[in-house]
Amino acid sequence: MTQSSVAFLPFVRPEIDEETIQGVVDVLRSGWITTGPQNQAFEAALSGFCGGRPVRTFNSGTATLEIGLRIAGVGPGDEVITTPASWVSTSNVIYEVGATPVFADIDPITRNLDLDKLEAAITPRTKAIIPVYLAGLPVDMDRLYAIARQHKLRVIEDAAQAFGSTWNGKRIGAIGDIVSFSFHANKNLTSIEGGALVLNDEAEAVLAQKYRLQGITRTGFDGMDCDVLGGKYNLTDVAARVGLGQLRHIERFTEQRRKLARAYFAHFEGGAAAKLGVGLPVADFTNGNWHMFQITLPLEKLAVSRAQFMEQLKERGIGSGVHYPAIHLFTLYRERGFKPGMFPHAERFGATTVTLPLFTQMTEDDVARVCRAVNEICEQYGKG
Ligand SMILES: Cc1ncc(COP(=O)(O)O)c(C=O)c1O
Repeated sequence: MTQSSVAFLPFVRPEIDEETIQGVVDVLRSGWITTGPQNQAFEAALSGFCGGRPVRTFNSGTATLEIGLRIAGVGPGDEVITTPASWVSTSNVIYEVGATPVFADIDPITRNLDLDKLEAAITPRTKAIIPVYLAGLPVDMDRLYAIARQHKLRVIEDAAQAFGSTWNGKRIGAIGDIVSFSFHANKNLTSIEGGALVLNDEAEAVLAQKYRLQGITRTGFDGMDCDVLGGKYNLTDVAARVGLGQLRHIERFTEQRRKLARAYFAHFEGGAAAKLGVGLPVADFTNGNWHMFQITLPLEKLAVSRAQFMEQLKERGIGSGVHYPAIHLFTLYRERGFKPGMFPHAERFGATTVTLPLFTQMTEDDVARVCRAVNEICEQYGKG
């Protein structure tokens, strides 16, 4: 088969079943298309998934992080510790609430917050931690919460990528402090755009609901008050219906992703990429939901840049992505005092990582094809 006859393999593609598509049509015909019964059903189903904890939906995983910080009482004068290896939303929201992000470097193996460095970054002004479970791999939750308890810190888990992940058999979302999920189109569970906050009690849930819609409380037919400064973060019922349709498949989605990840390890073993020193993720098939499969390139041993490497993949009909350049090197962050060299592991990861295709409708043959392409490029452009 020639390359041109093979369909392009994107790095991600959502799987939406026909029943969900029909459900969306029904919602559109129902006359109630914004936040309503589908959201209530979605929240109830998510709560069931998260051990019965209170859940409120939002229109993004950025809104959930920002509101999570507000509920935790984080504001001006406070510091929040997080990782520089994430989507920039993770730390932008810290500025949004008037607080200061403090980065701690990642562990180069797990690519998540190095908990020793996190502990070393705690000051009397630290109010909260935002751990990120990159590619769905949780940090050591026992140690994270031991640190939080010891220093009386709130935790807003950025579990945007970790829907369906677990820690010691317990689902992410069913344990912990405030947990934030994203249902963006690329996530393991999508509502096109959207997110959800898992909260500790009804008081937090009521507050989340107020922040979600202009701080409004309604009573009776005509009563209305506004007692907190809220925004416009509610999820449409069309989106909630998509999320509900996805939730039915989440166990299968996670299983399929784990199967494909295993295939990546098997196909990379002993090949040109492995010999050249291409880095692979932690081979965890218990806790992680395999939201992504990210390799790192030994650029010093390659005669091509990362962009050229990705171009080579594209020429072979394979999509790829970068998740993520180190946040502190962005202009906004440099202007606020961050400098190259501050978090070397996140910088190296951000400069060398490539996300390979991984989505539920891929086959193990697709994985083999990606690995062949990576090996071929490494053979062709590898130095020595
Ligand atoms: C780690 C992480 N945090 C936060 C977000 C923000 O989620 P959203 O795009 O739904 O606002 C994302 C998703 O893109 C993410 O991957």
